Amino acid sequence: MAAQASAQQKTGETLARISRQAQVLSAQLTVLNEQLFPPTAKKRLRSFSSGEVARIVGVSDGYLRQLSLDGLGPMPATGHGGRRSYSADQVMALRHYLAEARPREALDFLPFRRPGDKLQVIAVANFKGGSAKTTTALYLAQFLALKGHRVLAIDLDPQASLSAMFGYQPELEIGEGETLYGALRYDRERRPMSAVIRPTYFHGISLVPGNLELMEFEHNTPQAMIEGKLRGGDIFFRRVDACIRQVEDEFDVVVIDCPPQLGYLTMGALNAATSLLVTIHPQMVDVASMSQFLLMTSDLMSVIEDAGGALNYDFIRYVVTRHDPNDVPETQIVALLRNLFGEDVLRATAWKSTAIANAGLTKQSLYELEKGLVGRGAYDRALESVDAVNSEILQLIRKVWGR
Ligand SMILES: Nc1ncnc2c1ncn2[C@@H]1O[C@H](COP(=O)(O)OP(=O)(O)O)[C@@H](O)[C@H]1O
Ligand SMILES: [Mg+2]
Repeated sequence: MAAQASAQQKTGETLARISRQAQVLSAQLTVLNEQLFPPTAKKRLRSFSSGEVARIVGVSDGYLRQLSLDGLGPMPATGHGGRRSYSADQVMALRHYLAEARPREALDFLPFRRPGDKLQVIAVANFKGGSAKTTTALYLAQFLALKGHRVLAIDLDPQASLSAMFGYQPELEIGEGETLYGALRYDRERRPMSAVIRPTYFHGISLVPGNLELMEFEHNTPQAMIEGKLRGGDIFFRRVDACIRQVEDEFDVVVIDCPPQLGYLTMGALNAATSLLVTIHPQMVDVASMSQFLLMTSDLMSVIEDAGGALNYDFIRYVVTRHDPNDVPETQIVALLRNLFGEDVLRATAWKSTAIANAGLTKQSLYELEKGLVGRGAYDRALESVDAVNSEILQLIRKVWGR
């Protein structure tokens, strides 16, 4: 008896201790978060130097300078030493100007989806946390937007790190029914997709944010099936697709950051996707877990197909992330993946970089970071590697569009 009582007391103490520590940590995180990111401070996209704009838009810097001297196109701001810079709005205005001035290259400057071009829905998935899903989704969305595309980013992860990267604090700024769950739910509170899409500070990107509410879909789906709430073609895994279809005309590419498990949300994303990116951190434990992921995904996919769902992906690619090319075991794993999967592994890999990790701490990507803030060499190398990854993906997209 005495032993049992003492064991109970111990458990009580442990629980109290954990709960105390949880409170202390949570309070500290709130303070830190407010310092790094005051609730009143809205994120704003920086301006871009003329060199960057030339590279993004695909013209020479000299040509841009001549345009501004001739008073043609949007007028850049001039800073120290005559350095010219453009706001994101001006980059878009420049695209329009160039498309008109050089009609034969109009599609390069304004690469919007044309009638008949299929909406691209790209799911970024893997159930290994830390395989850089969110980072990959974020960088891809921003890269595509900088290239002039209309992008919808969907945060399907209840942990909502993608929303946080866009400057929305999931617990404070995203209310009930404001995640994709609001448009997916089975009851009368269901809202149209347009009601859960919000603008972001990043020109060209709209966001459906996430937060813990998304878990409700995992809980309510089995219930809805039991209660027979789903009729006819309304199968739970078709709902994500149905939501996206409502706003199809407004976007060129949809990027979905999937949660790190194969639940009903992920199944919905896999069904809605036209292409799949599986992120992989090239270490043995991660590869083992990815192999689990693939086995389970293929099982799930056959379930979806048996139930009449379509899964005709335009492309499936493995994206090697957080890769240290100087680490011998890592390069062996990358070689193994290439051996096994051949062309399905993107040629470019996202290099591990403290510039990316540090930028992430202040909820920024390398695309939005002011260059002076990081060592130039480190920044350039990291940016080059993510640009190479994203360029390959953009090529795959353009191939689907027959360009
Ligand atoms: N190329 C990279 N180099 C260094 N750190 C990275 C890189 N990509 C991602 N990270 C960091 O790794 C962590 C996990 O990445 P994240 O994208 O959140 O993974 P996931 O969404 O799969 O859980 C984050 O702290 C992120 O900043
Ligand atoms: Mg994530």
